[in-house]
Amino acid sequence: MSTRQSPWEKTLILSRNSPVPLYCQLKDILKAAIECGKLKPNDRLPPETELAQRFQVSRMTVRQALIELENEGFIRRRQGRGTFVAEPKFRQSLLRLTSFTEDMQARGLKPGGRVLSIKVILGDKDLMQRFRATPDERFVRLERIRLADGEPMALEISFLRRKFCPGIEEIDFTDQSLYAILHEQFGLELGWASQTIEAKLANEYEAKLLGVQVGSPMLLMQRITYLADSLTPIEYVRSSYRGDRYQLYVEVKR
Ligand code: GLP
Repeated sequence: MSTRQSPWEKTLILSRNSPVPLYCQLKDILKAAIECGKLKPNDRLPPETELAQRFQVSRMTVRQALIELENEGFIRRRQGRGTFVAEPKFRQSLLRLTSFTEDMQARGLKPGGRVLSIKVILGDKDLMQRFRATPDERFVRLERIRLADGEPMALEISFLRRKFCPGIEEIDFTDQSLYAILHEQFGLELGWASQTIEAKLANEYEAKLLGVQVGSPMLLMQRITYLADSLTPIEYVRSSYRGDRYQLYVEVKR
């Protein structure tokens, strides 16, 4: 086994006298190496046994440090292939009503979308309540995978009130912005939205489509969007964002 040290390890010795547990010290060293760019996205970390030997700690200590780094989204373990530095997270502001397309463009990334299905449906009890709709109202259900530079970021299911955008189900939404279409083709001006965010774990379906492990962290954002000139709700969306790639950001004032 190679004992050659990477530059980020050279001068770093864990202190056994410190009140900070060894696994926390090791975690901080690896985290600092990632944050300052000495370890880059997709760099492979040495195997657990090698890290244990280099830092003179047990494998349990190494494992504990790696579990925490993974939970915080700094590294990703790939079955049978090893442990790699994760891509940095996207910071998503919560203050503006923006579209996925606008968010990606603002970051200089190419937005994309793969349509999984689009169909006209009658609302169930939940939809009728959310939209305060009558039982005969029709909705368009659009399910898409959202991509940033070709990488899957989110699974999104949008419900639209068809009476405001009749025929929208005929549109091919591959790599197309829903908000742009609502505005340009149907003359709809979006005004504001109410949004909730909660933590969840990726189920099998989401994991397969987003290329993550079953049980990995996800952010479920649910939005109801209203038209600008009224209190009319027009879309209800359930977006499941990859928790390893997204961080939500808001500035607060006292
Ligand atoms: C984001 C929001 C969704 C919204 C979508 C529209 O992903 N979370 O609520 O429906 O943007 O994006 P686009 O116009 O790119 O299709």
